[in-house]
Amino acid sequence: MSRVLFPRFHLTEIEDTSWCPSWLRDHAHASLARLWQIKSRRGYSLATQACNILLDSVGGIGAAAEFTFVDSCAGAGGPTPYFEKYINKQLEAGGHTPVRFVLTDWAPYLEAWQSLSAQSMNISYIEEPIDASKAVRIAGPEKKECRIFNLCFHHFDDPEAEKVLRSAIESADAFLIFEITHRTLPSIIYTATASLFGALSTTWIEYWWSPFHLIFTYLIPLFPIYYVFDGVVSCIRGRTPEETFNLIRRQRDLDLSEWTFTNGEEVVLPPLGTLFWYCGLKKKAQEESS
Ligand SMILES: C[S@@+](CC[C@H](N)C(=O)[O-])C[C@H]1O[C@@H](n2cnc3c(N)ncnc32)[C@H](O)[C@@H]1O
Repeated sequence: MSRVLFPRFHLTEIEDTSWCPSWLRDHAHASLARLWQIKSRRGYSLATQACNILLDSVGGIGAAAEFTFVDSCAGAGGPTPYFEKYINKQLEAGGHTPVRFVLTDWAPYLEAWQSLSAQSMNISYIEEPIDASKAVRIAGPEKKECRIFNLCFHHFDDPEAEKVLRSAIESADAFLIFEITHRTLPSIIYTATASLFGALSTTWIEYWWSPFHLIFTYLIPLFPIYYVFDGVVSCIRGRTPEETFNLIRRQRDLDLSEWTFTNGEEVVLPPLGTLFWYCGLKKKAQEESS
């Protein structure tokens, strides 16, 4: 278990401000989408390792067949296209029908989503902005709903995070939070380093044709400064499992009798890159599928 260095402060990331231009945000989200594909020496990408945790948490591949998965803060799509391929390939091999993945965000990145949905008929998206703290159920009555929060839960301050989790408890059947930023030394070092390389490589790989992006990455390092600042602030906003699940337990009027909560952490990109996960699963959903 990593040692938490200091109390949580809800500082503001540049990406959360109203004045942050969309091209700056889109650059960072494209970089995060690529981060999910980076493979460890064992040959598994971050997305694959997260997907295995997701499958274990909901009760295995048979149980996954009963869900619709909602990526609640999808950005540029993050790991969802990999989750979709990985899960549906296994489902089809086992004779199940493929499951649906739905992308939502309060700042929909339609250009990226259109391309992902064109690549798979099991990925769709909601065009209108959806605030995760006011989310409504998307899955039909015949399906269970699992809300996934990829690298985004630290964006919510405590009152907002309480609403996000309340909504999941009241209108979904499971939730999974994945974070790589936390108030631990390995996480801070990893995040600062990965942010710097993320900024430099994203311009090089995806925006090599744009003098604007090239200048503001390599001559005037606007993108690297933005990445490292937001990355370190994300770490300062990380939550322990106790802090996360307390956001639910202290809402005394919530009926948690059917829910189980689990969490864990795994070094996914050695030596320092650690994935922290926090899961809630409705017992009834668990029992029916087992
Ligand atoms: C750091 S990005 C993560 C993007 C993506 N999930 C990934 O892993 O690459 C955080 C995302 O959370 C979204 N977000 C922040 N607050 C939100 C809210 N209240 N409701 C919905 N989306 C929100 C942002 O628009 C952004 O796309």
